[in-house]
Amino acid sequence: MERVHYPDGNVLLRNLTRNFPVISHGQGVYLFDADGKRYFDGSSGALVVSVGHGNEEVSRRVYEQLRRVAYVNGTQFTTRATEELATRLCALAPKGLTRACFLGSGSEIVEAAIKFVRQIWVERGEPHRSKVIARMPSYHGNTLYALSLSGRPHYKKFFGPLLTEVVTTPAPYEYRSGLADYAQDGASHYARLLEETILREGPDTVAAFIAEPVIGSSAGAALPPPGYFSRVSEVCRKYGVLTIADEILCGSGRTGKFFASEHFDFVPDLAVLGKGLGGGYVPVSALLVRDDHVEEMRKGSGSFLHAQTYLQAPSMTASALAVLEYFEAAQLVARAASVGAILQRRLREEILPLPYVGNVSGIGLLAGIEFVEDKKSKKPFPRSKKLIEGLLAHCSENGLILWPNTGHADGVHGDLAMVGPPLTISEAEVEELVQLIRTNILSHMEKL
Ligand SMILES: Cc1ncc(COP(=O)(O)O)c(C=O)c1O
Repeated sequence: MERVHYPDGNVLLRNLTRNFPVISHGQGVYLFDADGKRYFDGSSGALVVSVGHGNEEVSRRVYEQLRRVAYVNGTQFTTRATEELATRLCALAPKGLTRACFLGSGSEIVEAAIKFVRQIWVERGEPHRSKVIARMPSYHGNTLYALSLSGRPHYKKFFGPLLTEVVTTPAPYEYRSGLADYAQDGASHYARLLEETILREGPDTVAAFIAEPVIGSSAGAALPPPGYFSRVSEVCRKYGVLTIADEILCGSGRTGKFFASEHFDFVPDLAVLGKGLGGGYVPVSALLVRDDHVEEMRKGSGSFLHAQTYLQAPSMTASALAVLEYFEAAQLVARAASVGAILQRRLREEILPLPYVGNVSGIGLLAGIEFVEDKKSKKPFPRSKKLIEGLLAHCSENGLILWPNTGHADGVHGDLAMVGPPLTISEAEVEELVQLIRTNILSHMEKL
């Protein structure tokens, strides 16, 4: 079996009209299918494979843990892997984040973060604080509350009655901000909009504000304007609103700092990690919180009321620990900064001038390429054209994998490709990736 297309096999395929090549193995930045065809994994899957495919060292460390003990329940036991991971992550984290717990996916950990915040407010005797302000556009996951939080209207089409209304405020998205001087005016502009939102909702009803320090696929690796996080943090502090950094996509070293928040002096009250933390070897996500919040729980109800079967499971925590140790040995975060600077420069030199490329954004080994029908007016392609789907299918045929997004321009329209190779990428591979992107864009766009 080399390719699967619905209705082949018994898997409920994620797409019922597309071919799925059967991957046999991976090595570094490359994947190989059952036909022996090679793919350059230019997006680490969904921005996950931080330590590259087929990483022997990480696999060996995970295997050693699995042989020792794969599972204990987090309500009964702890393990060295879990303890050590928490210690290491808290040492890397923004100031004050000194406690960590672990789950599998990003969506789960976002749900846990929201429940943590909610419990704090109830413990404090402020049960009316239940609203969470998210940004538009944004993405925080696919479980029901995480999806409710996500500023992506088109994702919610089928699930409306199951979702909760969540208050949103505009995300800082330079390309479509409409601001004449984003760098100069952006921070005060967005902080004012957030403050207006809090005041409109009633400050004593707002529990938290959640934001990705660097926006992931929902706005093509858009960066905040200078001073943004100090200004919005000030506003949140003024009204007692807790801040949550969603570092699931942008964290774990990809931007050239372990926590992307560090670039912007953002010191959140809570932070969540996922994706690259386990590098795809075993799913793992982390919630980091402050000791004083945990103390409030201890003195109140006694504990954080959140148990899931796999909470703190050593199979998961050992994979993140192995990834962290590999990061350290190979100095991958510093590499993400230095090799990432080359990627960012080459994308701007080689890709930005191409027809239909409206914008290139990003930092380190995280970048977004936004396509538009008209570069001058930034008018997106009509959604019916399925530009990004067609382009990425063309790339895949030619052995290049990127990650797509749609809908960021106005909730419906917008086509972008995320670039985020494994942090192990060499300089020569960066050049190979940029040239692959270039030739694929040119050959696909000439058919338009
Ligand atoms: C910023 C952000 N938060 C949360 C999630 C949800 O993570 P998961 O897909 O592992 O549930 C994602 C996934 O893309 C994400 O990019």
